[in-house]
Amino acid sequence: MTNRIFTPFPILNTDRLILRQLVNTDDNEIFALRSDDNVNRYLGRQPSKSIEDAKSFIQAITENVKKNDSIYWAISLSGNLIGTICLFEFSDDNTKAEIGYELLPSYQGKGFMQEAVLEVLEFGFQHIGLNSIEAYTHSENQNSTKLLEKFNFKKQLSSESNSDKSFIVFKLLK
Ligand SMILES: CC(C)(COP(=O)(O)OP(=O)(O)OC[C@H]1O[C@@H](n2cnc3c(N)ncnc32)[C@H](O)[C@@H]1OP(=O)(O)O)[C@@H](O)C(=O)NCCC(=O)NCCS
Repeated sequence: MTNRIFTPFPILNTDRLILRQLVNTDDNEIFALRSDDNVNRYLGRQPSKSIEDAKSFIQAITENVKKNDSIYWAISLSGNLIGTICLFEFSDDNTKAEIGYELLPSYQGKGFMQEAVLEVLEFGFQHIGLNSIEAYTHSENQNSTKLLEKFNFKKQLSSESNSDKSFIVFKLLK
């Protein structure tokens, strides 16, 4: 049985964090994340150039969540957005998805993402009913690789679906 329905929005709690829905007033923090060279370094995405880019991004994410296409949490510490985490690219049978995450630089190296990932994996496997979760991470992205290996994600051999060889596919089975 799978359950890929994200309304009402599933708020998740960890010891220090609240994982909540992204809202329009998160635009400054989303801009900070998506325009930061350090955060973008291994992500292969176009940096946000203006607050308008951040506003459009929030709108697109809100639509996707409403359609149950993906689930995207703002990671909140004492009321401040410090990063984001998401599950996306669900397979048609809802047994497989991809995970993505990012933290503002000043909140890295403090164990926050470990806390968030733990809850999101639990949500993906237990609530949605996924059998596997994948992560595509740049081969030089040591912080992301360390994080995935802590949760026992296993490096996959490169395949057709992974045409960009600078990215490694990690996979975790339920
Ligand atoms: C990937 C990313 C989220 C990892 O962040 P991170 O801060 O290294 O990961 P965590 O929050 O789990 O913190 C782990 C570190 O905090 C340290 N730490 C400090 N206090 C801690 C605590 N209370 N509990 C656990 N760990 C703690 C750990 O020792 C570890 O440090 P180490 O890597 O030197 O061993 C971050 O590097 C990032 O946002 N990168 C940019 C975006 C990106 O590349 N995303 C990947 C997409 S695939």
